[in-house]
Amino acid sequence: MTVRNLFLLPGDGIGPEAMAEVRKIIAYLNEAKGTGFVLDEGLVGGVAYDAHGSAVSEEDMAKALAADAVLFGAVGGPKWDAVPYEVRPEAGLLRLRKDLKLFANLRPAICYPALAAASSLKPELVEGLDILIVRELTGGVYFGEPKEIIDLGNGQKRGIDTQVYDTYEIERIAGVAFELARTRQNRVCSMEKRNVMKSGVLWNQVVTETHKAKYSDVQLEHMLADAGGMQLVRQPKQFDVIVTDNLFGDMLSDVAAMLTGSLGMLPSASLGAPDAKTGKRKALYEPVHGSAPDIAGKGIANPIAMIASFAMCLRYSFNLVTEADNLEKAIANVLDKGIRTGDIMAEGCKQVGTVEMGEAILAEFKAIS
Ligand code: NAI
Ligand code: MG
Repeated sequence: MTVRNLFLLPGDGIGPEAMAEVRKIIAYLNEAKGTGFVLDEGLVGGVAYDAHGSAVSEEDMAKALAADAVLFGAVGGPKWDAVPYEVRPEAGLLRLRKDLKLFANLRPAICYPALAAASSLKPELVEGLDILIVRELTGGVYFGEPKEIIDLGNGQKRGIDTQVYDTYEIERIAGVAFELARTRQNRVCSMEKRNVMKSGVLWNQVVTETHKAKYSDVQLEHMLADAGGMQLVRQPKQFDVIVTDNLFGDMLSDVAAMLTGSLGMLPSASLGAPDAKTGKRKALYEPVHGSAPDIAGKGIANPIAMIASFAMCLRYSFNLVTEADNLEKAIANVLDKGIRTGDIMAEGCKQVGTVEMGEAILAEFKAIS
């Protein structure tokens, strides 16, 4: 039987509450579908600091590296605001991203029909929206050298960040975008600013060459990133997969996120390079939201972002596409029935807590799968 190793890092605040609902779904999949998930669990963030004084232990790092996929909840909270910078809760997540070499950040923006009215755009512009933003996560202006503030000596200082991209970095992120597009509507829009940036010129060239060499079956379009931002709020449904750099991706994915409603709904995946021997990618799946200290422990957090992150895990790490589709369908059906947590509550709907929402989705998932 296939063994699929999952390493769970629930973390702080609402992280463990949301993760508990995913565990129920995994247990069901193992029982009913023989998926063979084997779970191990570690500490990350504030709870790890409390236990052993660092944001993630070496032992847990080794487990994360060995697992087929990592499911991550959330880290942080006011309790740890004063801990030293190097061991603050967020350091655990940064270490994981760095050591697992997660260079591709996938942020879907899906608008569930039942929530279209909650968007900041007109419902007809977002109903049925399904975009995937593929953001380069380990290069670009956030990491390029030099990166410093220098004193010019005349009462002036100079802040410097450097946008750097090498061919291989652009090739591999473009490859991820093209491969994912093949599993969707087969369309990629690449965004850069080649009109004013040399790295943008190179980005455009390398994406074009990668497309020509290996992915010419996929429809490719190029757009300047500022125009892309405009199009995202003007006519968002024109996009399927968007591939872009670290900085533009940071902004464009937050814009796209707000087209779809609450933070409690948004999943993400971060992928590494395929292993030379097995072809498997390192991967970490996490909700976009944080630990929500204001509602932690109250049993009212929306578990959908975490559950939808697990759906991405089923799809991208294990190729369990039908199960992933059904889980997303189960979420949509539960929302259609008017079942809502407080953050997405609307008139005429039934307000439930974390556990009831998780169980409603599981019941629906069982019914359709
Ligand atoms: P947050 O995402 O934790 O919360 C922002 C607001 O959204 C809060 O009012 C919260 O109650 C609400 N919210 C978030 N997720 C929700 C859910 N699933 N259901 C219902 N309501 C939800 O961001 P905030 O407040 O800026 O940060 C809180 C802590 O989380 C900080 O320590 C921050 O550093 C950390 N953080 C961690 C992240 C991670 O682990 N990847 C990401 C963002 C923040
Ligand atoms: Mg951001």
